[in-house]
Amino acid sequence: MASEDVQRGLEDVVALESRICFIDGKGGRLLYQGYDIRELAARSTFEEVAYLLWYGRLPTPAQLEQLTQRLAALREIPPGLREILDRIPKDSSPMDVLRTAVSALAIFEPEETKPGASSIGGALRLTAILPSVLGYYHRRRRGLPPLPSRPDLSHAAYFLAALDDRAPSPLDVKALDVALILHADHELNASTFAARVTASTLSDLYSAVTSAIGTLKGPLHGGANARVMDLLDDIRAPERAEEVVKDRLAKHERIMGFGHRVYKVEDPRATILREWSRQVGEAHHDLRYYETLRALEGVVHREKGLYPNVDLYSGSVYTLIGIPEDLFTPTFAVSRVVGWTAHVLEEYQDLRLIRPMAHYIGPTDLHYTEPAERA
Ligand code: ACO
Repeated sequence: MASEDVQRGLEDVVALESRICFIDGKGGRLLYQGYDIRELAARSTFEEVAYLLWYGRLPTPAQLEQLTQRLAALREIPPGLREILDRIPKDSSPMDVLRTAVSALAIFEPEETKPGASSIGGALRLTAILPSVLGYYHRRRRGLPPLPSRPDLSHAAYFLAALDDRAPSPLDVKALDVALILHADHELNASTFAARVTASTLSDLYSAVTSAIGTLKGPLHGGANARVMDLLDDIRAPERAEEVVKDRLAKHERIMGFGHRVYKVEDPRATILREWSRQVGEAHHDLRYYETLRALEGVVHREKGLYPNVDLYSGSVYTLIGIPEDLFTPTFAVSRVVGWTAHVLEEYQDLRLIRPMAHYIGPTDLHYTEPAERA
């Protein structure tokens, strides 16, 4: 094999078959189990989309009610995990907190984590508990008392309530619900692939999600939306977008929130979030972010021909509805855990150990020397 035959980053390698998610990179379409994300964002809820991703079909009203109740009932953090969370330094990275919590939870819930168990119960438990863990950590670092599990609230409403004591408006809750729908799955992205690699050894669901959270933590995967907000701080006003972009491009810097490995046109999630950024901005009487982002889009398209991705508008929505910047990537995890677990369950159904090969480029003729003889 020659070095040029190596598929670095597994780019363009098709590693498995899946029924969960389809990305049409040229047409700018994203489907979950065959349903267009635009229809789901306009008409569905996060709970319904979770059911769709796990079971492969839309739920009947009774099935949705049952799933919603089960999710709400599984929010409680077990005492053993609370003790661990209480010992975590208050300035820890929230992604480290999430990863540690999922890993520790496996110890307190061994039944759910039997190797190879194809357990939707485990998927529900992890999905239900991530907002509780983040809320517990965030309230603790701010000196607020923990929130009770509030089974009356939807997943999105509970997540916002878990963070602080403000009562979010229905529009803020809907904006988060849509953002959660849009982030719930994206085919074989790096964290989902990591989850499937772990599952392909017949390891358990919680281990797979622990791998996925560690993978999402990296700035090349989660995290671009927080850097978009930093860019907006730098730009400050729409009329300064051109100057700041040109300056950054002249320094060969990337403009966050633009470009995508798979989409060659606008990411459909960006189209939907743009509209939500405007709506939430209007409701909060603050269109600064929206207007600056619109100006930014125009300049980046003119200068580089690049289109927005999902990260361009999400940070503006999160900021306006009260999610702090260091919880942006954890919010991604709160949603993507549905996709991770759906993929792990699919992996268990069609299991093949994922084990690629490396092209060896080191020496092959070395001989052992005694320590004293080594230079
Ligand atoms: N800003 C400036 N230039 C860019 C950008 C950008 N955001 N994205 C791509 N380019 C340019 C590159 O510099 C390169 O130009 P060149 O050919 O003149 O060197 C060309 O476009 C192709 O770039 P690649 O890195 O090969 O494109 P790839 O498809 O691999 O990159 C990526 C995809 C990593 C997302 C890239 O567009 C990027 O860095 N974007 C900014 C970070 C970001 O927004 N990430 C979130 C992605 S969505 C998600 O993960 C949830």
